[in-house]
Amino acid sequence: MLRTTFAPHLMKAYSNYTRIVLLFVFLVILAGGIVRTTQSGMGCPDWPHCFGMWAPPFSAKGLPPDYKKYLSKQDIDTEYNPAHAWTEYVNRLITGALGILIAVHVAWSFKKFFRAKQTICWLSCLLLVGTLFEAWLGKIVVDTNLAVVKITLHMIAALFLAIIPVLILHKLNENKIVHDKTLSMITTIALAILLVQIIIGTDVREQVDEISKALGYQHRDTWISQLTTAFDIHKITSIILSLLVIFVFWRSLSHVALQRKGAFLLLVVFALMAAGVSLASFNIPVFIQPIHLLLSSILFVGLFAFKLNVRK
Ligand code: HEM
Repeated sequence: MLRTTFAPHLMKAYSNYTRIVLLFVFLVILAGGIVRTTQSGMGCPDWPHCFGMWAPPFSAKGLPPDYKKYLSKQDIDTEYNPAHAWTEYVNRLITGALGILIAVHVAWSFKKFFRAKQTICWLSCLLLVGTLFEAWLGKIVVDTNLAVVKITLHMIAALFLAIIPVLILHKLNENKIVHDKTLSMITTIALAILLVQIIIGTDVREQVDEISKALGYQHRDTWISQLTTAFDIHKITSIILSLLVIFVFWRSLSHVALQRKGAFLLLVVFALMAAGVSLASFNIPVFIQPIHLLLSSILFVGLFAFKLNVRK
């Protein structure tokens, strides 16, 4: 455990706060997934306002007189849709809350670690800069009417944001390292394949976006059959990845410090596979889409955290 001049309970409070920041990063990823699957991305056509207001109204009656200029920017709604506006608005509120949490984190990190461990301060700053970049990218996505490549970049950037709190927590507890050459190598391979799998998954998702949009979000039963070979590759890679995670779990049983983490990864990969198979078998159910996305982000961050604890 890192030694500073601070009392252990303050150290624990800082670690717990970092965990809350991580939780909010996942909440932002989940909220983003819900916005997309409910087609609410353009629910607020302007940014940072929503229909020129700080909070959207519950009915069209509360809109400003010039609201039609905003409606013309929307992709699927021809009338004001309060459900879409509020889904997007809540998404922005959660993102805003994350921004505030991170700003406090930066201040706390400098106060606590500037002398004892500067890396933690810089990691916290990176989190802030990364979040500002994500917010900027979010604005670009809105301005360009959800251009798909930018959505992928948005997703990958979110994953890298999520690993920063994990790195900070690791810096606070650097003594918990297990030495196992095979496990270290397999975990690295699994992590690399997972990253590729997530990029392929985002490609599949972009195809789903295009197909569904072209069909006016109707005829869900035909979407899966229109996917290209990227979807076949996604399925094959998922099996390879699952086998690697099963190996990681099995091998972690030999190390008391890793057993719970290994079991967690196994659980997440099984849930993720079940979510994927449900997407493919039941015409891409709306509520499974954000869960599949959230679980793949949790697996990425979980595997990364696991790797930090294993060395050659
Ligand atoms: C370890 C396994 C897997 C990982 C890490 C993974 C990851 C991902 C990711 C990151 C996306 C993009 C989600 C988004 O941007 O909203 C995605 C989409 C998708 N995946 Fe997977 N996936 C896995 C397994 C599977 C399996 C086994 C299937 C089906 C048999 C599957 C079917 C799909 C489908 C249909 C989509 C598009 C969903 C949408 O449009 O929301 N996935 N996957």
